[in-house]
This record gives sequence, structure tokens and C-alpha cells, in this order.
Amino acid sequence: MGLSRALWFSAAVVAVLAAVAGAQLSPAFYNATCPALPSVVRRGMARAVRREPRMGASILRLFFHDCFVNGCDASVLLDDVPGNFTGEKNAGPNANSLRGYEVIDAIKAQVEASCKATVSCADILALAARDAVSLLGGPNWTVPLGRRDARLTSQDAANTNLPPPDASLSSLLSRFSAKGLDARDLTALSGAHTVGQARCVVFRSHIYNDTTVNATFATDLRASVCPATGGDGNLAPLDPQAPNAFDNGYFRDLIARRVLLRSDQELYGAAGNGTTDALVRAYAANATAFAADFAAAMVRLGNLSPPAGKSGEVRLNCRRVN
Ligand code: HEM
Repeated sequence: MGLSRALWFSAAVVAVLAAVAGAQLSPAFYNATCPALPSVVRRGMARAVRREPRMGASILRLFFHDCFVNGCDASVLLDDVPGNFTGEKNAGPNANSLRGYEVIDAIKAQVEASCKATVSCADILALAARDAVSLLGGPNWTVPLGRRDARLTSQDAANTNLPPPDASLSSLLSRFSAKGLDARDLTALSGAHTVGQARCVVFRSHIYNDTTVNATFATDLRASVCPATGGDGNLAPLDPQAPNAFDNGYFRDLIARRVLLRSDQELYGAAGNGTTDALVRAYAANATAFAADFAAAMVRLGNLSPPAGKSGEVRLNCRRVN
């Protein structure tokens, strides 16, 4: 076989393997059919974050919760239909917690106005999450596109797949590994907790019962926002120093043991894993290294695809199947 034939052959093998793996996403997917897409999404996110900076954090989390349940297929956006369909919105980790659905609706309406029935809700969410991070001062990256929207999902899948706030390090590692994501991805992606808020009900046990939390930090929170009983919905910032700035402050909080979630503190100082400790120290010391690893891990998170055989659709309304 001549060199050019050999090259052609290996390129063809790579293309076939990519197709089999379902990894056909491409940043150019809508170049011909919806060239305005990136600017429409960017404008919608800029408006939402200007109105309420926390919305950047909420959209980023929405994307994570979408991708971790049967891949990034906008399944999380489907409304329940009483007596007929129970989706993910009322699963334990999502109910009274996930937010930003209206922002995606508004962007979808804008996208439909210029590119009818062309762009999936899953792709809009992937672009919106990228814009959320960069609008809050974090890294930018190129988003591969071409996802399809799910026609079905289940509340059970959300309850089983999404990690709980009391997860141990080994549980976090195995949940991420089940998605093909390693300790570096877990640590970098957890850096998303440098923005946004959490409710007392999810961090109460950490600040009352754990010995791994800074005592002054815990005492202050107990007195100010999170009583031993009641006040479940009271909010505190995940990174108190700069709740709306996408920086590496979260990793310094971990080293100082001043974080809200037990699952977060597990990344640093938990028995038995030096890997995440070393990554936390590296990201705390080097904002550029964190930004680069976070962006790369977001692309990998965004590559999680629905199980084979699910072809999906381009939903017209993100809240229901066509
Ligand atoms: C590693 C396992 C993770 C666990 C156990 C976890 C858990 C949580 C919990 C319990 C909250 C507070 C929810 C509430 O009180 O209503 C939260 C908030 C948040 N999470 Fe995570 N999370 C994890 C990973 C991630 C990842 C990978 C991302 C994104 C890449 C992310 C992004 C966020 C954001 C931005 C918020 C704040 C949302 C807002 O203010 O609306 N989380 N997370």
C-alpha cells in the first residue's frame, strides 16, 4: 500500500470509529443552516447574566445535569405531563434547585425566529453553558455541535446518575469514571462551584457534623444562614470570596476547608487519594492551568452522548417532544 493510500485508509478508519462511538459533533455543524446561532445564544445569555449574575451558574449546572443523565440530549428540559410522563425536573437533585429553564426558552424562541426547526435544545444548552462561564470571567472554548434532543427520559435515571452532596471521593470518582471522565476531569469540573449558591438543606450535615470543615467558617454559617432545623431553602455562596466570578478561588477554599458541600471537601484531604489533592493545589496556585483543564473537561462532558439507537429530534419547544 502506498503512503497516500495508507493515510487515506487510516483516515477512513478514524471516521468510522468516530461514527460508531457517536462522536460526530462538529463546531461547524450549523455554519450553513444557522450562522447566527452563536451570536443569538451569546446575546440571550448576556441579557440573562446582566439581569441576574447567578443565572450564569444556574445554566452551567443545568448543562451538567443534562449531560450526566443519558448524555447531553436536553432531557432535563422536558416538563412532566401529569398522568402521562415523569421527567427529570422533579428528581431529588433537581427539584426546587435547578433553575434557568425560562432563559433557555427565551433563547430557543430567538433561535427559532431566525432558524426554524433547525437547532436542537441540547446544542443551545451547550452553547449557553460556555457563554455563562466566559461572561462570568472564565475561559472560552469552541463548542462541538450536532446533538439531538431526547424523546424520552426518566426520573429514576436522574436520581441514579447525579452525584449527591454527601458523596465520598471514591463514589465521585466511580460516578465520573462511569461516564469516561477521570480524576482530572472531576477536579476541574468541580471548579464550577466557584460560582453560584447552595441551600442550607444540602450543606447542613457538613457544617454541623463533619470534622473536615474549618470551625469558624462552620460556626458563622450556622449563626447566619443555616440553623440546625428550619431554613432549608436559605442560600449561601459556594465560593464566598467571589460568588459571581469564575476564578480559581474554589480551590483555595478547599485548601482552607471553607466549602459548603461535603462532596467538594472530599477532593482535598480525604484519605487515600493524592491525585485530587495534587490537582487542587495545582489549580489553586495556577488560574491558567485551571482554566485550560476546565475548558477541556467541559468539551468532554459535552461529548457524552445518548445510548446507541436513540436518534432523537430537533425539538420545537424545549419543554416537550414534537
Ligand atoms: C462532583 C459532583 C457534584 C455534586 C455532588 C454537586 C452538587 C451540587 C449541589 C448540592 C449544589 C447546590 C444545589 C442547591 O442547593 O439547590 C450545586 C450547585 C451547583 N453546581 Fe454542582 N455538584 C457537582 C458537580 C458539578 C459540576 C460538574 C458542575 C458543572 C460543570 C456543577 C455546577 C454547579 C453550579 C454552577 C452550582 C450553583 C448553581 C446555582 O447557583 O444555581 N456542579 N452542586
